[in-house]
Amino acid sequence: MKRIGVLCSGGDAPGMNAAIRAAVRQALSLDMEVFGIVQGYEGLLDGEIKSMQWRDVGDILQRGGTILRTARSARFRTEEGMQHGLKMLETFGIEGLVVIGGDGSLHGGLELSKMGVPVMGVPGTIDNDLAYTDFTIGFDTAVNTILSLICNIRDTSSAHDRTTVMEIMGRRCGDLALYAGLAGGADSVLVPEVKTDINEVVRKVLEGQQTGKLHSIILRAEGVEFSSDELAGRIQDVTGRDARVVVPGHIQRGGTPTANDRILASLTASKAVKLLYDDEPSKAIGTVRGEIIAMDLEEALNVEKTFDMDMYNLVNTLS
Ligand code: F6P
Repeated sequence: MKRIGVLCSGGDAPGMNAAIRAAVRQALSLDMEVFGIVQGYEGLLDGEIKSMQWRDVGDILQRGGTILRTARSARFRTEEGMQHGLKMLETFGIEGLVVIGGDGSLHGGLELSKMGVPVMGVPGTIDNDLAYTDFTIGFDTAVNTILSLICNIRDTSSAHDRTTVMEIMGRRCGDLALYAGLAGGADSVLVPEVKTDINEVVRKVLEGQQTGKLHSIILRAEGVEFSSDELAGRIQDVTGRDARVVVPGHIQRGGTPTANDRILASLTASKAVKLLYDDEPSKAIGTVRGEIIAMDLEEALNVEKTFDMDMYNLVNTLS
């Protein structure tokens, strides 16, 4: 294969730029032509496709976000949209694609793959919700960002004897809350994978208060059935102490990528390009127990995500 495209799709994640850099430079090193597709599948449909050279990806390794920009494309999800996307690839003579993104983005890639375009999926999402890989690009950075927020909140919560309920991203996956909760010593971690009784959470805060604990930090992942406001209200009513809700929102998605994310991005994206160079069929690239792996794309997307209950229980044991 001589001419490939690279795009980012879905929510951005720190480390996507490191992946773009690796894809572009690996391709050029193999004497391939590489095209950057702007704003994911949206840009593909609009023909926003540009040739990428070595210097185009200089000075981006340390930057969050993505220089190619990204989007969630509803247009591409239609039969008509996919046919048009295929046509655009043909127009630009692009023979294979590196898709950097999460579950939805890789599913988009799978559809193109079924139409005959080899697609290599590089896992880029802070959510860590792709089951075939141990970690996704951006997850480690987001965990560290949340950790730093927990440290700040802890200072002020303990100064005021408050409970803080912090809302954590992750869509339907509780990994961000789980990892940040263990690393940050949260009192409770609430995730969509485990049904939680709101009364139990309140009882735990009250019990802590009765044994001399002055403040509590609760991480509530998005997707949990009761709201943060509801929980904070109940805690305040029962304990008679202040309970506040903190919503870091998209702050969790920005920032300079950690070494782990840059390394994961560089290894997976360069592997993706090498597989295209070797004319391999569509694959999802990831990491399993520290090893870089490439699995059939469809098979990878059918792997079911499991939740680490041991880690979850440990958060409770240690809090
Ligand atoms: O997939 C990444 C993510 O940040 C999720 O954690 C969150 O649910 C979603 O994207 C938010 O999407 P948007 O930026 O479109 O509001």
